[in-house]
Amino acid sequence: MSDNPHMMITADQYCVIGNPVAHSRSPWIHARFAELTGQTLQYDRALVALDGFAAHVADFAARGGRGCNVTVPFKLQAAELATRASDRVRRAGAANTLVFSADGVYADNTDGLGLVADIVRNAGLAIAGKDVLLLGAGGAAAGALGSLIAQQPRRIAVANRTHAKAQALVAQHADLAALHKTELLAIEQQALEADSTQNFDIVINATASSLAGAQVPAPASVLRPGCLAYDMMYGPAAQAFLDWARSHGAQARDGLGMLVEQAAESFALWRGVRPPSQQVLAELRALLQA
Ligand code: ATR
Repeated sequence: MSDNPHMMITADQYCVIGNPVAHSRSPWIHARFAELTGQTLQYDRALVALDGFAAHVADFAARGGRGCNVTVPFKLQAAELATRASDRVRRAGAANTLVFSADGVYADNTDGLGLVADIVRNAGLAIAGKDVLLLGAGGAAAGALGSLIAQQPRRIAVANRTHAKAQALVAQHADLAALHKTELLAIEQQALEADSTQNFDIVINATASSLAGAQVPAPASVLRPGCLAYDMMYGPAAQAFLDWARSHGAQARDGLGMLVEQAAESFALWRGVRPPSQQVLAELRALLQA
């Protein structure tokens, strides 16, 4: 303890930057992580104008901010402004976690790690050796693909409404897939419709189709009996996909665990301490159901 009564202990500052950001559960999750690990930190929401991201990050870092999470629509800009980035960020072109230090800004993308942790640890299902279908080729799919490949599934097929985007995402990860001996391909949605033998152990919805009120962008024949059908969203946005999956005999899981686990990965990166994410996930689920 300091002898000087005027010296205040200020908590390390973090935030989540987005637009919109009011709905974000990240401040609650990180506050719980901090309590449970005995860390002293403050974590706020930062609503930033669409043209104000880089300036806000620079200002926050200059004011002593230690790091931030980045959400829609700034993940691409976060990857661009970093002075150093993980391989995941370079391949996805998107970052959700920034770490500020004297050396500059380090960017990582913990979304895919969070997805994998939720499937493997929380749902208790191995991805290694499995056949995986990834629906979508936007930012959410891009953020997850590298981490999925690192689990060494047998095969990952990427299907997207705009096929060229699936092809580009696959090309971006081809060498990584070869390294991990995973067969990686882009598959046309029509091919899924036409060939009912195209089915999978794990089907991951990384599209925004349910937000648009559109149908699930895949036929039910992609679901192997008892397979895992995972929506990266949670709450009402995931409901249509989860209902569809359950009605066809799949085990359905929403993205709440991914949210908590990606936060845990960010927390570990910033603080060097792994928080009890399963406990916090159970608490958050109870809170949302209350
Ligand atoms: P996010 O960051 O959530 O991934 P995004 O980068 O805009 O957002 O990507 C949205 C994804 O949802 C894309 O794969 C998009 O397909 P396109 O690449 O063809 O745009 C997909 N998507 C959005 N609305 C859809 C719909 N109604 N049916 C099928 N796919 C849809």
